Amino acid sequence: MDLAIFLDRTSAIPIYQQLAEKLRHAVLEGRLKPNQKLPSSRTLAKSLNISRFTVTQSYEQLESEGYLETRCGAGTYVCSQIPDDWLQSKAIELVAAQSSRSSVLSQFGNNLISVKHLEVSEPENEISFRYGNPAVEFFPISQWRRLLSRHCKNSPTLLHYTPDAAGYFPLRVEIANYLGRSRAVRCTPEQVIIVNGSQQALNLIARPILDPGDWVAMEDPGYLGARYCFRGQGANLQPIAVNSEGLDVEALARCHQKFKLVYVTPSHQFPTGVTLTLAQRIALLQWAQTTETLIIEDDYDSEYRYGEQPIPALQGMDRSQSVIYVGTFSKTMFPSLRIGYLVVPLSWISLVSKAKWLCDRASSLLEQYALTDWIAEGHFERHIRRMRHLYNLRRQVLIEAFQNYFGSRITILGANAGIHVMVKIETGLSDDMVIQKAAGVGVGLISAREYYWKPQHQGEFIFGYAQLEETQIEQGIFKLSQILEH
Ligand SMILES: Cc1ncc(COP(=O)(O)O)c(C=O)c1O
Repeated sequence: MDLAIFLDRTSAIPIYQQLAEKLRHAVLEGRLKPNQKLPSSRTLAKSLNISRFTVTQSYEQLESEGYLETRCGAGTYVCSQIPDDWLQSKAIELVAAQSSRSSVLSQFGNNLISVKHLEVSEPENEISFRYGNPAVEFFPISQWRRLLSRHCKNSPTLLHYTPDAAGYFPLRVEIANYLGRSRAVRCTPEQVIIVNGSQQALNLIARPILDPGDWVAMEDPGYLGARYCFRGQGANLQPIAVNSEGLDVEALARCHQKFKLVYVTPSHQFPTGVTLTLAQRIALLQWAQTTETLIIEDDYDSEYRYGEQPIPALQGMDRSQSVIYVGTFSKTMFPSLRIGYLVVPLSWISLVSKAKWLCDRASSLLEQYALTDWIAEGHFERHIRRMRHLYNLRRQVLIEAFQNYFGSRITILGANAGIHVMVKIETGLSDDMVIQKAAGVGVGLISAREYYWKPQHQGEFIFGYAQLEETQIEQGIFKLSQILEH
């Protein structure tokens, strides 16, 4: 097989990454076809005059990205299922990449090329189950406006204050107290660092910790915002399966790599919705302590839990400074606010504050002032209680509609928390066909397929319900059941 691979031995980009990139391109350009066998690592290493270990590293990288698969005893193959739309979008990115790629780009810049755009522009559908949005029309905007204008009136303080990169201290106090009472997080206000949403939190952790080639363990399926952040940093990612107890800690412990980070969503795993059990939490913390690995705990929608007592945050159970906790106001207030927070171990405060300063000096002060009062005056927790009640109602309508219209043809996962559920639907249709047919009757759906490392999963969909009225939810599921019947 002639793959016409040229490796630049003078480049700062490691050879294994160059090789992975050439093979990735060969798949995307169709020069390597689904199910095609690749040369053995020994053969390829010999023909390229590089070490076998380098080839194995490239193969492993591409396996973790879902391009290649190892078949037991038979060798390495191009994955059988690389969806057409993925190929197309990658091919478009590839053209853009080729035109922008040059020696001008850093390794980070080159890594970004393989990162897919995350903001999906979805066609307008009358009823969209698109995940992620809270019911923003219920946000008490006039109260928020009042707090903003209160601080605008006091403009001298606002205009002349030199912001602390780690955030407005009274806000950090409010957040530390709130997290202590609601999530059993144990921290001082100094450990709380205000950021522009959890996406920035992930970046501020990744940059001082990860060098290209470092290993990060991630849930499979998992959150793309985290995956792309670490990949942009040049990290090697190791998917770890999620089972009914959350991240499979035993599988993690069996891995031979030395991990720098493990990223988890214990309260409501994204996207399956599973809660990491207490036993698994203890096992994960013990593993992290023994292996000296940092855990990133992304607690993105833990405020919404229905019926059951919340399990305390991992951070609060940790006794070895192994957990960095990430939270956001995107779900509890509104996503365009772009305010989130990190709770870091004491020894990380200065480093992460410097990373924040270098990134953008500090988050906007006006909103931090208003948010401090918002929490201190009780609006925040009152709003959460109101929303929890509303989302619980919408969640029940969704579950009932599924039961009424689908019966045993579906399995619902993760319904006891958060603002979305993942649903397995028994259907002979491909996900693309289901989405297309649903759009035909005005229903917008998102497949869970792309959150998996290897996109072979079919029939799993994510239903965001917070933003839909009860009648829309009922109608949407009814319409879906109709098109899937015929
Ligand atoms: C797993 C996960 N973490 C975090 C977030 C929130 O991100 P941000 O705070 O950047 O809006 C989301 C949003 O959808 C999410 O799904």
